[in-house]
Amino acid sequence: MTQISQPDQQFIKVSIWRGAGDKGGYETFDVPDQESQTILDLVSYIQQYIDPSLTYRFACRVGMCGSCAMMVNGVPRWTCRTHVKKITDKAGSLTIAPLRNLPVIKDLVVDMDVFFDKWVRAEAVHHPTRSIEQGVQPVSEDTAERQAANAAIECINCAVCYAACDVVASNPEYLGPAALNRAWSLVNDVRDGGREAILEAVSGTGGCHNCHSQQSCQKYCPNELNPTASIAGLKRETSKFALRNLLNPANKHNQGEPA
Ligand code: SF4
Ligand code: SF4
Ligand code: FES
Repeated sequence: MTQISQPDQQFIKVSIWRGAGDKGGYETFDVPDQESQTILDLVSYIQQYIDPSLTYRFACRVGMCGSCAMMVNGVPRWTCRTHVKKITDKAGSLTIAPLRNLPVIKDLVVDMDVFFDKWVRAEAVHHPTRSIEQGVQPVSEDTAERQAANAAIECINCAVCYAACDVVASNPEYLGPAALNRAWSLVNDVRDGGREAILEAVSGTGGCHNCHSQQSCQKYCPNELNPTASIAGLKRETSKFALRNLLNPANKHNQGEPA
């Protein structure tokens, strides 16, 4: 990016959260208004030409890695895929902040440990059923469970949905849309051996039944996934699982059929 210095240059007022931990405030910068700028371009310009101490995260710049997510005018977004012209408010200004619902390390960088710890708590990790020597089990793409697994599988762990979730904001124990979405994908994956462990993990405190189903996660997911639908599936399957165990405690360790 070249630095702009023409006398008739227009500028955008960009307010950026600065600080570490829960201490900080907004600082405003004048950034040259250029064609086809993304929010990430603005942040990069400030860091390269105005204040090298500005801290932020990005990697791919093309919506593949999920690392550039921030709050832009109060809305969680991938900043590399958000064009300035589409969202600048009437006054031509922008406010950029770290993702909501996650601890701030510095400026625009959040600590993702809380987010990924919840994936582990939800058992949203692959439970292998074969050794390396046995190779990958072929699966049919035509079955209902494979289609349910595929519908939830394209998550890139950006935490945009997590930042959009009001239940996470009010209940830090809640596992959140991304971890539950992956859990649902695995529940439907015939190659995963953790169905029972997952259903138990997502049934407990902070589990899927906390979701209010108002779909902010689906609204903001840049990959057009629908974690709310995945969570509805988990609610259904955990209820059936609990009922089966209640009616016949001997079934407690039976895996049951995939959804
Ligand atoms: S479900 Fe969507 S918004 Fe949430 S982490 Fe995955 S890709 Fe990001
Ligand atoms: S639908 Fe559920 S997971 Fe999605 S934002 Fe609302 S409470 Fe959170
Ligand atoms: S930098 Fe990778 S998704 Fe934006």
